[in-house]
Amino acid sequence: MSPAPANPVFCALDTVDLRQALDWGRAVKPFVGGLKIGLEFFNANGPEGVKAVVALGLPVFADLKLHDIPNTVAGGVRGIMPLGVAILNIHASGGPAMMRAAADEARKAGSKRMKIIGVTVLTSLDDQDLHATGVAGNAEDQVLRLARLAKDSGLDGVVCAAHEIAPLRATLGRDFMLVVPGIRPVGADLRDQKRVMTPFEARALGADILVVGRPVTAASDPAAAARTIRDELFPHAA
Ligand code: C5P
Repeated sequence: MSPAPANPVFCALDTVDLRQALDWGRAVKPFVGGLKIGLEFFNANGPEGVKAVVALGLPVFADLKLHDIPNTVAGGVRGIMPLGVAILNIHASGGPAMMRAAADEARKAGSKRMKIIGVTVLTSLDDQDLHATGVAGNAEDQVLRLARLAKDSGLDGVVCAAHEIAPLRATLGRDFMLVVPGIRPVGADLRDQKRVMTPFEARALGADILVVGRPVTAASDPAAAARTIRDELFPHAA
């Protein structure tokens, strides 16, 4: 019998409140594969807060989107590695030297190292916003260009929108991690996410990690909400 597939759902703990983040983490732990912390949490709680989330015992994705000169980003990677997070992201638009410096730094930790993934084009930017910043093509072309550059620069994957999963898989192959936010379980409130997909659809298209925040953390019972998503993905685990 083949091993059970890993649960791809990472729950976004978007809060400044450490106790709240740990309560959510403990509640959803049996039903998710990992946890995500972002700038909101990191700026309020710092490295000690990250360590407390890591201590819950699930892989942690630090969504800190580093972007600076190569030497400084490599230093940022070096600084976060001892905290034990599994995944860190950086902006692919920082360029190949920056991405290479981050990837090389992470690789110094050996086989159980932290993975580094790229952010391509923020989903808040449309074609016009990109033109205003000097990017001539459309957002979709820019996403593909930056994702290819991220792979060629030694990164382990990219964050992408659900509708980008299929073209990125087709272009970059199987061995490249696709981390997908904007996931909404069947019947969920969309809130400010416009282009969403269900966990099952995103997984079927080839997403490796599904980031789900408010459908779980804003639910009256976060554990039950996480369990419903787990059961949709793995009907036989129920
Ligand atoms: O609450 P919700 O499920 O919308 O949370 C999604 C998480 O993924 C948030 O932490 C958000 O910052 C992050 N994210 C996103 N859209 C992107 C990139 C990251 O929603 N394009």
